[in-house]
Amino acid sequence: MSDGVRLGVFYTIVRPEEKAILAAAESRGVAVVRLDDAGVTFGLEPPPGLPDVVVNRSVSHTRGLYAVHCYAHYGVPTVNSPAVVELAGDKVLCSLRLAGRGIPTPRTVVALSPEAAMVAIDRIGYPAVLKPAVGSWGRLMAKVDNPEDAEQILEHKSALSSPIHSVFYVQEFVPKPQRDLRAFVVGGEVVAAMYRRSTEWRTNAARGGSVAPAPLTPELVELSLRAAEAVGGGVLAVDLMESPSGLVVHEVNPTPEFKALAGATGADIAGRIVDYAVGVARR
Ligand SMILES: Nc1ncnc2c1ncn2[C@@H]1O[C@H](COP(=O)(O)OP(=O)(O)O)[C@@H](O)[C@H]1O
Ligand SMILES: [Mg+2]
Repeated sequence: MSDGVRLGVFYTIVRPEEKAILAAAESRGVAVVRLDDAGVTFGLEPPPGLPDVVVNRSVSHTRGLYAVHCYAHYGVPTVNSPAVVELAGDKVLCSLRLAGRGIPTPRTVVALSPEAAMVAIDRIGYPAVLKPAVGSWGRLMAKVDNPEDAEQILEHKSALSSPIHSVFYVQEFVPKPQRDLRAFVVGGEVVAAMYRRSTEWRTNAARGGSVAPAPLTPELVELSLRAAEAVGGGVLAVDLMESPSGLVVHEVNPTPEFKALAGATGADIAGRIVDYAVGVARR
């Protein structure tokens, strides 16, 4: 039932995903309030004219996180909730939660200084993967094949003053086939899944690999739902790899792009997101 619900879309730019969400809302007769993340201000009291639910589509983890906290403070439910955005949007916190729930995930060691990072890489062994704790599109990740590489990358990182380079997330390199998997979960259901293939080791669709629909096998569905549930549930894209010992979940994305997935599978992901948001809207 979408009767009278006003749906806020908190966005940075209107990508095909946001266009699809706006179109899905319109086709359902759901009124949309556009919330440009560069224009909104948040006071301590609820402002007039608030929407009944806000879908966070900001490309910035930080802006999205503060925004969902503010909307929650005003009593407006958000997709996803602040706790989910905070946890899933940070690879360190997400890995801790996945491991804590017994979900198969690559071996990971976190370090907080370049010296400790060297120890972490030694503990993981070569090749290792270094990732920023917050980030997407495979950006600023490095595959480290030997101690010489490690020292050079750590030297570069320590020369950069940004706080994201002061947390070192070190992971075993999973010898996956030249593809990984992404499953899209909306409120306790896997809506669609795809393979992302690439000749590069980073197979993100945003890096230009090819995509194909993936069968919803019981293992994929079970693990994806457990991973989504582990971070608190909502609208989540679960990234998995085929390791020699079976599927492992390497991250859960709280603000996922889905153009490639919708294109590959024909799934109406935007429609499912709008329906879910209407379902959690205040009334
Ligand atoms: N531990 C790993 N071993 C092998 N490949 C990896 C590993 N971690 C990530 N990758 C590859 O890099 C891509 C991006 O990594 P991911 O952790 O999903 O970061 P992002 O948030 O940037 O998408 C993955 O889709 C996968 O193809
Ligand atoms: Mg990813």
